[in-house]
Amino acid sequence: MKHTKRLYGTLIFLFAFLIFAFFYTGHNEKVAKNRIPKVGVLQLMSHPALDQINKGLDDTLREHGYINGKNIKIEFQNAQGDQSNLRTISKQFVEDNVDVAVGIATPSVQSLKNATSNIPIVMGAVTDPKGFGIIPSNTKPGGNITGVSDKAPLESQLKMIKQIMPDLKTLGIVYTSSDMSATTEMKSMKKLAEKNGLQVKVSSISNVNDLQQVATNLSENSQAIFVPTDNTVASGMKLLSSVAGKQNVPVFPAATTMVKDGGLATIGLSQYELGQKTGEDVIKILRGKGKPATMPVTFIKKGHLVLNEKKAKELNIQFPDSLVKKAQKEGKIIK
Ligand code: TRP
Repeated sequence: MKHTKRLYGTLIFLFAFLIFAFFYTGHNEKVAKNRIPKVGVLQLMSHPALDQINKGLDDTLREHGYINGKNIKIEFQNAQGDQSNLRTISKQFVEDNVDVAVGIATPSVQSLKNATSNIPIVMGAVTDPKGFGIIPSNTKPGGNITGVSDKAPLESQLKMIKQIMPDLKTLGIVYTSSDMSATTEMKSMKKLAEKNGLQVKVSSISNVNDLQQVATNLSENSQAIFVPTDNTVASGMKLLSSVAGKQNVPVFPAATTMVKDGGLATIGLSQYELGQKTGEDVIKILRGKGKPATMPVTFIKKGHLVLNEKKAKELNIQFPDSLVKKAQKEGKIIK
């Protein structure tokens, strides 16, 4: 009798333990499944184009039901254009074990790439991912990196410049020597412009402090200035356009946001749309619907015509009617 009692006791204890263990592990699994996904966003610096890309990304996540702090944690960091910040933040994202890391602009992506080869990385606007050696193929990236290119429609831009200034002979280009995207676009535009019979003068800067001097020289020697999607020039665009404006020289930038900051006109990609596409890639990866290795890089073909009428008046330049009509219909006019 004593024995049976003890046996019962043991059995009840065992049973209770099993039930407890069952629910306890079940509970743990649930916690693991419900862990809030983390997205690390590393932006190179602040300028209107990169800010728009980040906004497009943010809005897209929200529109797809990802509410920051509720069912997703978005860790946003701005490197203020500093290489050591880029490294520190990239390492931090890896330590935090983010589910996806987003790099806005080429140096951010390169720094994330150096920090991890298994956490998925989404490129928010890298001009030429394959050309820069970030991935071996734009259609089959193969590793942990995919994303969006912001390659500018340079042919359309040059055509537009010639439409606005049919007598143009000398074109200046200013770019930052350490900026890969700017260097690539500078080379392409130089080639293209020379093929079109223009004389091209190229000047480089190392940082934004050089801009005043270089812009002064360049505007003394050219009738118009083109600027590629250059992160440093983008942050000094107001200065550049005012220096050039004093010599009555218009600045044609490669990105739409740079027209708002004093450029005369462009046919450029919507920076906000680049951010939206970046967001779509992030969501696909978070939902397990794709892996960077097999997700092709997104290229946006359609450029938007943006005319700065205020600047045109200052420079005494008249936009051709056809361009104005086109901008009214499907682009934008800044007054
Ligand atoms: N293409 C740039 C890079 O690869 C980033 C960028 C996107 C940019 N849009 C821009 C730079 C507009 C200047 C202006 O780093």
